Amino acid sequence: MFDVYQIRKDFPLLNRPLNGRPVAFLDTAASAQKPQCVLDKMMQIYQTCYANAHRGSYWFAEQITEEFEAARQTVRAFINARETREIIWTRNATESINLVAATWGMQNLRAGDEVLISEAEHHANLVPWQQICAKTGATLRVFAIADDGSYIEDEFLRALNSSTKLVAVTAMSNVLGTIFPIKEIAVAAHRAGAKILVDACQFAVHHKIDVQDMDCDFLAFSGHKTYGPTGIGVLYGKAEILSTMPPYQFGGDMIEHVTYQHTTFAEIPARFEAGTSASVQAIGMAEGLKYMQHLGLENIMQHERELTAYTTARLNEVPNLKIIGTAPNKGGVFSFIVNSIHPQDLAFVLNKENVAVRTGHHCAEPLVNRMGYTSLARASLGLYSTKEDIDALINALLKAEKFFREN
Ligand code: ALA
Repeated sequence: MFDVYQIRKDFPLLNRPLNGRPVAFLDTAASAQKPQCVLDKMMQIYQTCYANAHRGSYWFAEQITEEFEAARQTVRAFINARETREIIWTRNATESINLVAATWGMQNLRAGDEVLISEAEHHANLVPWQQICAKTGATLRVFAIADDGSYIEDEFLRALNSSTKLVAVTAMSNVLGTIFPIKEIAVAAHRAGAKILVDACQFAVHHKIDVQDMDCDFLAFSGHKTYGPTGIGVLYGKAEILSTMPPYQFGGDMIEHVTYQHTTFAEIPARFEAGTSASVQAIGMAEGLKYMQHLGLENIMQHERELTAYTTARLNEVPNLKIIGTAPNKGGVFSFIVNSIHPQDLAFVLNKENVAVRTGHHCAEPLVNRMGYTSLARASLGLYSTKEDIDALINALLKAEKFFREN
């Protein structure tokens, strides 16, 4: 049984009052809080078997290498990749996408080629493509979404053509919450002869991922959003594609043989993991994924579905509040504005009420502008979010709305 109140006990920070009152943490889309098991696992590694993974042949070094590779296996299983070597450790999803842009992009894009993204992309899935297009002479195309934030199949299909070499698309918007039908998009992309890269940063927090079922060529997500530590992320790529890509960075552990004149490179995944890996973070990330699996992805999804409906209904009770992003298929991310109150002022009042939300353009400036704004307030849910968190948000918003209306 999924008992959110029991589950919250696993998260030390959620149980720490601030100024004597509980905090309603509604910023999981930016970064999730960490369960005790993740903190314990990382501390245990540092205290019992820390060494540089893949380097020494003494006990500690072998132990951490084993844990590090077991973590890779946990990620493989979490996203149902075919092979463990298809899992590349990176610093975060941003680095995963930059890796593909700098290697696959430089190798495969030419003048006349197109990279196709949606209007709903985070900067991390936009700027690397914009920059690599500038370097290679390829063109960045953007397909439109609807005013409510929905995916429009016709817009995507209209923009997709025989010049499209890559479709780079989010599985769930960090601003609008819109969930994109990746499987459908992948079928069309492949039919057009393009590869597909999925930014699964937000999606991975809330949903089951099956890269084989999606049939994506690349997928990126990060540890800090999936209840793990910062500083670690994952790039999934199909082995047959990764194997043809040149290295991203050069240095230790990514080589086969080195002379002063020449270097041959390791097979995947090592080829893309130059230098000392963030091994403890990788192990921590795997612990976060195991924690999600232990609670049950279906249970998490069900809990968040119910809370998403509750949040939508309650936000609509606030006078002069407009939710930005009301696609029928959306997850627990709520961007909004209240009257003409600047989101920063709104957040100031919410902070006084111990309600934690994010404001600004959410690293998706063109999207926020396209929706007609320069800044939005955003509340987002995690598996530990409760109706009480939402009630605290609504009470604070009602206070703020009244205060700004009357003053
Ligand atoms: N991408 C993160 C967010 O949406 C940081 O807040």
